[in-house]
Formats: sequence, C-alpha cells, structure tokens
Amino acid sequence: MIGTQTTIERPPAQLCGHAAFRHDVLNGLGLPKKRIPCKYLYDERGSALFDQICELDEYYLTRAELAILERHVDEMAEAIGPESEVVELGSGSGLKTRLLLGQLVEPRVYYPVEISVEPLLRSAAELSEQFPDLTILPVCDDFTADFELPPAEGPGRRVFYFPGSTIGNFRPNAALRLLRSIARLAGPGGGLLIGIDIDKDPAIVEPAYNDRLGVSAAFNLNLLARINRELEGDFDLDAFEHRAEYRRDEERVELSLVSRREHRVRVAGRVFAFDDGEPIHTEDSYKYTLEHFGRLTGRAGFAVERQWFDSDRLFCVQFLGVA
Ligand code: TRP
Repeated sequence: MIGTQTTIERPPAQLCGHAAFRHDVLNGLGLPKKRIPCKYLYDERGSALFDQICELDEYYLTRAELAILERHVDEMAEAIGPESEVVELGSGSGLKTRLLLGQLVEPRVYYPVEISVEPLLRSAAELSEQFPDLTILPVCDDFTADFELPPAEGPGRRVFYFPGSTIGNFRPNAALRLLRSIARLAGPGGGLLIGIDIDKDPAIVEPAYNDRLGVSAAFNLNLLARINRELEGDFDLDAFEHRAEYRRDEERVELSLVSRREHRVRVAGRVFAFDDGEPIHTEDSYKYTLEHFGRLTGRAGFAVERQWFDSDRLFCVQFLGVA
C-alpha cells in the first residue's frame, strides 16, 4: 500500500473562486504540517509557467505522451469506437485533444470539464472552429469534488480522457475516489483513456522537477506571489526555496516550498509562524509502477483493454474499460 491520507478540510460547497482560495490557504497554513491544494498553482501566471515547464528539455512527460498519441492514436480511436461521448477532465484545446478528436469516428458529443470558466470557454470556442460538426458541451465544475453529467445516451461508448498524468497529482485514496466516480459516470461499457507517468530512474525524474533554468522553482513560488496578490499576503519570496524530492519508496515526487529561516508571515490579517527549514507542501506527483496502478484502477472497477508506451518506456497511456 502506498502513502497515508491526511484529510484536508473541504471548503463548504457554496464557496467558490476567491472565497474558496482564501479558505483553503488559511486552513492549509494553519495545519501542523502546512499544505496548500495544488490546484491553486494554476492561476493565469502559473498556467503560463506550467506551459513553459512542458517545453523544458528535462520535462520528458509532455513529449513522451505526445509521441505515444502521435504514434497510436488510430488504435486509441479503434478502442473507443464510433459515435462515442468524450468527457475530458481539464479543458483541452491542446494538441493531444485535437489529435484524438480528429481520429474518432463520428463522435457524438465532447464534454470538457474545467474549473475556471475563461479557459473552458476559450478552448471550447477554438475546438468548435476545428470541429464544426461536433457537439461541444462545456461543463464548468471541479472534477476533484463530486460532479455530475447527464446520463450517457449511446449508442457508442462514453469515454473519459484524462491526459497529462494528472491522476498522479492525487493521493491514492483521492485517486481511487475519482476513478470510481469516473467509472460510475462512464457507465457500463464505458471507458477511460488515461496518461500515467511511471516509476523510473531518479536521474530522469528529479531534473524534470528541478530544471536548470529555474522554471519549476518560479512556478512553485508563484503560489506565494498569488497569495500576496489576492489575499493581502506579505510572503517574502526570497525567504523560501523550491524543493522537489523523489521519494521512490512512496512512488511520488513531493513538491514543497521550504522556509530558509525562522520568520512570520501575514495573510488576510492572520499571522503564521515558520521555522527554519519548515516546508509548505504544494503538490505530489505519483510515479506508479504499472502493477500498483493496475491494482488502483482494478479496485475502481476498470480493466486494462490496451496500453501504449513511448520508445523509452518513460510514460504510459492506457485504455481502461468499465468492468
Ligand atoms: N502536474 C505537474 C506534474 O506532476 C506539476 C508540476 C510539474 C510541478 N513541475 C512542477 C509542481 C514543479 C510544482 C513544481 O508533473
């Protein structure tokens, strides 16, 4: 078994946007082990920095997944079958989504599910230009919480697309919960096309999260800048350093911001004390063995129908059927 779950208090359901950010940051900084949910890394500036990460020499994930797609998208479309309903978790106007949609035979409907409304509508508009015959129904919702979809109508399969190894950013318990809700919403005969980064040599993994140009560090530190901007914080960015530690025993990279000295920080009128060397945990990135990932998806009710690798076997895309 991998990892143990420490529960983070969920924001009350009615909180969204700014109020949820404030709630989650104040709650997270008040925990004995400080942590902030990783979804807040991706504001406008964070998303732009993450796009830069995806282009880095060291960040093999995006390139490997794209290579798999370019090489095998015909087999993926064949596994999905005609007249499918595609549900993408995260808004996709990127190359991966276009490759997939372009290969499918008469897809019936495409549901992008995305928490922030502007990127959702922007990418939906872009996609509808390239695929004028496709029905696109954007869903503005947080797929990390419970979310709903209209029942599948058939006759094709309802297939979820979850690229980018984003499943690796969930703790195993939360990943299991999400996979179970995907299985339920996909329904009998449904499927899941998912990208996963797999366990490998630390000499490859560590530089991907600690690049020479310092983009990973800037991305992580932007969270503190965002808190300063949006929550009246006074974080001194020079007082924290980016840390990425591959704990292979736990099958994950642990990302954190570590205080360089003992000091106090004020956020939204509240004061938080930091020790020298004290971390704020910002994200986990799981690198599963195929065996452990298989166990996880099996418990969620999926069976592997097909799987594909890049030529260096760095990354894996699986097509899972609801068993
Ligand atoms: N989702 C990305 C991943 O798991 C997140 C990420 C990449 C990240 N580089 C980072 C998070 C650096 C914090 C710092 O690969």
